[in-house]
Amino acid sequence: MDRIVVLDFGSQYSHLICRRIRDLSVYAELVPYDISIEELKKMNPKGIVFSGGPASVYNKDSPQPTSKIFEIGLPVLGICYGHQLIVNNFGGKVKQSHKEYGSSILSIDNDSDLLAGMGKSTRAWMSHGDAAETLPKGFEVIGHTENSFAAAIANKQKLVYGIQFHPEVVHTEKGIQVLKNFVLNICRTKQDWTLESFVENTVSEISKIDSNVLCGISGGIDSTVAALLIQKAIGSRLKCVFIDNGLLRLNEEKEVEEMFKNNFGMHFTIIDAKERFLSRLRGVTDPEKKRMIVGEEFVKIFTEFTEKNGPFKWLAQGTLYPDVIESGVSKGPAAVIKTHHNVGGLPSWLDLQILEPLRYLYKDEVRKVGKILGVPVKILNRHPFPGPGLSVRVIGEVTPEKLQICKHASKIVEDELITSGWYDKVWQAYAAVGDDRAVGVVGDERKYGRVVMVRVVDSIDAMTADWTRLPSDVLERISNRITNEVEDVAWVSYVVSSKPPATIEPQ
Ligand code: XMP
Repeated sequence: MDRIVVLDFGSQYSHLICRRIRDLSVYAELVPYDISIEELKKMNPKGIVFSGGPASVYNKDSPQPTSKIFEIGLPVLGICYGHQLIVNNFGGKVKQSHKEYGSSILSIDNDSDLLAGMGKSTRAWMSHGDAAETLPKGFEVIGHTENSFAAAIANKQKLVYGIQFHPEVVHTEKGIQVLKNFVLNICRTKQDWTLESFVENTVSEISKIDSNVLCGISGGIDSTVAALLIQKAIGSRLKCVFIDNGLLRLNEEKEVEEMFKNNFGMHFTIIDAKERFLSRLRGVTDPEKKRMIVGEEFVKIFTEFTEKNGPFKWLAQGTLYPDVIESGVSKGPAAVIKTHHNVGGLPSWLDLQILEPLRYLYKDEVRKVGKILGVPVKILNRHPFPGPGLSVRVIGEVTPEKLQICKHASKIVEDELITSGWYDKVWQAYAAVGDDRAVGVVGDERKYGRVVMVRVVDSIDAMTADWTRLPSDVLERISNRITNEVEDVAWVSYVVSSKPPATIEPQ
């Protein structure tokens, strides 16, 4: 398979460059900027992209790629900081300049290769404080803006190109065309990255495993698609385990069991651990403690299962490409804002090898693979759900009463959003409940019932989120139904806090 390697210099758009190239059916991989020349050669790429990044090339500690990178004769495209690296590396000058943020008009000076098919001028997205002051020898200007005389440069002999703008963002009108020119015409890659071929190759790789594989199922899309891929390769040697912790959405445990056992015909064990989780959570109100308990209990139950049913050599996980990159390249503080639990806490003496069939895929690619493998649309499009489940949506102590309210009210929120066509437009939507009570009147009687909070948010990556401006008639229906249909609820409130300063989940 032909591949393009993207060197990550820390831009928030680095992943997006890979995504856009993959959309051209060419496989792209993100690697740390300081990858060694040996490792790079081993990957056998057809071309290299330098991402943007927050640094300035003239600072002493600025991130630099290996100096040998320009000697291997591969086409290189530098974006923003990557563009400045190229200017600097070949003997030009970069200096602090007129800051250019947002949309600029890029005038095309030469449309023979990188900027082919771009017309005379086009809108391009800029985000930089440094710019080229003098060009290195052998380079020519192929595009400029009002503030950057060298917004696009080329050394056609060496096939080294630099662009000050970001072709990967949607605000750059013909950004895809620039990437297409580089990847298909300059690097001459074959368009052989398709998800059908991914399924075929992965299944054939996994078929080489000759022992049982254990897979923890959460009901979410990642573990579901991972399990289906593995099942396709090794059939009933895949053993799936689903822990019912009592913190799931209304009827979720039944739906998951039905899907895995009856629809997919998998070897599927459901462990009813509702009481274990609830009793450990009794009396606990601190959000972090609740997360820790849920994580610990998961690991304990999983470990007990492997001891009774093992030995297993392999554990399958639905790890995705951004998780792999996060853990290896940019371990930022964001990861520890809340303790996120996963099966990573399993004791090392279990000695399980990890099988991660989705480790090279982005979420939307997993969705497409799921579609190829016949996962129901309802699962593919379902909103993300936190690992510790409803324990983070029940504020304060987790009690059976509060859990029931949370489940029923959330189901109403989901149903009403589906009916009104809003479900697919929002990131997450649910109801939370705490210990607050308020007075209501039902018929002639006063009732002192719970206050339910409805939370609906828009987001693209959960790092930031805005509350969704739902139409008042949808809110009204949700509110009426919750107070009428869910026992012990008197008031419904709508959360109008964004993230930051709030978070998406209340606990
Ligand atoms: P917050 O509440 O931090 O949530 O704004 C961001 C996204 O992550 C989900 N979330 C979790 N997922 N374990 C998970 O697997 C957790 O402990 C956890 N906490 C929050 C949340 O639903 C949202 O999509």
